[in-house]
Amino acid sequence: MGQDIFKIQDLKIDFTTPRGILKAVRGISFTVHKGKISGIVGESGSGKSVTALSLLRLLPGNGTITHGQILFRDKSILSYNKRELQKFRGNDVSIIFQEPGRSFDPIYSIGKSFAETIKAHHPKATKSGILLRSIDLLTEVKIPDPEERLHNFPHQFSGGMLQRIMIAIALVSDPCVLIADEPTTSLDVTIQARIIDLLLELKEKRNLAIIFISHDLALIGSIADRLIVMYNGLVLEDGPADRVLGHPLHPYSRALLDSHPRLGDHYTEKRLITIPGSIPDPHMTEPGCPFAPRCRMVINECRTSIPPLEQSNDHSGHFYRCIFPGEKN
Ligand SMILES: Nc1ncnc2c1ncn2[C@@H]1O[C@H](COP(=O)(O)OP(=O)(O)OP(=O)(O)O)[C@@H](O)[C@H]1O
Ligand code: SF4
Ligand SMILES: [Mg+2]
Repeated sequence: MGQDIFKIQDLKIDFTTPRGILKAVRGISFTVHKGKISGIVGESGSGKSVTALSLLRLLPGNGTITHGQILFRDKSILSYNKRELQKFRGNDVSIIFQEPGRSFDPIYSIGKSFAETIKAHHPKATKSGILLRSIDLLTEVKIPDPEERLHNFPHQFSGGMLQRIMIAIALVSDPCVLIADEPTTSLDVTIQARIIDLLLELKEKRNLAIIFISHDLALIGSIADRLIVMYNGLVLEDGPADRVLGHPLHPYSRALLDSHPRLGDHYTEKRLITIPGSIPDPHMTEPGCPFAPRCRMVINECRTSIPPLEQSNDHSGHFYRCIFPGEKN
């Protein structure tokens, strides 16, 4: 499927909380390929953002990687020293978040935000070099009148424009991987579609690997090359996007697909996933399949141990974690 950039192997992440240990990620493995979009989908609390932050070693202080490996170009980022980590975050991988407004300092003009980021990567950059680079990047993300807009402040832009600027700033270092954590969730559906088009264009033009995180299986399925379905800190299904959407093997993936609202629904309604029951409390992980309390096909065997991630026999690289793969729920 293209060159492997990231390999995540049996990764486990715990948080220390006042209620005890919270197992946010319980052993996930997946691979990110150059020039491809890896979509990570799952309900709130499934561990998507924690996984994304761990790929940059940006976990909050109470979070620890307790097991597993994260390989970037075959080298473990877990063994990077401070300098290597700084270089890696600066040059190789960038991240954008859901609410672009929050990522900007309201008292900085956009031009100043660019200048700070460019100087952090290229301390010797000249004033004219910074200006040219900022204009180029704003042009690349299709902000009209880029030179004038550099003088504006964040509140003078719409949410969609700010997300474009956030993407432009994330591209300052020409990363080969862009992590986009719910980049369009706070935007309305038309603007969302334009941001998606922009990301697809950047992927093609820059041969960028994108890790795209969303609640919305249909949205993510329409752009991703590969789909990873997360639940309660585990990968329940992982495969080529067309296979996961066309022939979902896990009852949870099927439930997500069935719960997707109709085309044209407002974005806030998309957040209402209507699978009966709620996700398990990550403080109290049960021994068996995490979807068992909500699964109509559950039998006693499902509750004894977590089913292993197995490959479907069509050899398409389609994996699932269920003892009744592909059965109608
Ligand atoms: N700093 C923290 N301290 C304690 N628990 C945390 C912390 N950050 C995340 N968690 C917990 O880790 C689990 C996974 O959280 P995560 O933010 O990755 O979910 P998510 O899939 O991104 O959800 P959402 O779709 O709501 O963004 C959740 O149970 C969450 O409460
Ligand atoms: S392992 Fe059992 S409980 Fe879990 S999804 Fe499959 S059938 Fe349902
Ligand atoms: Mg999240």
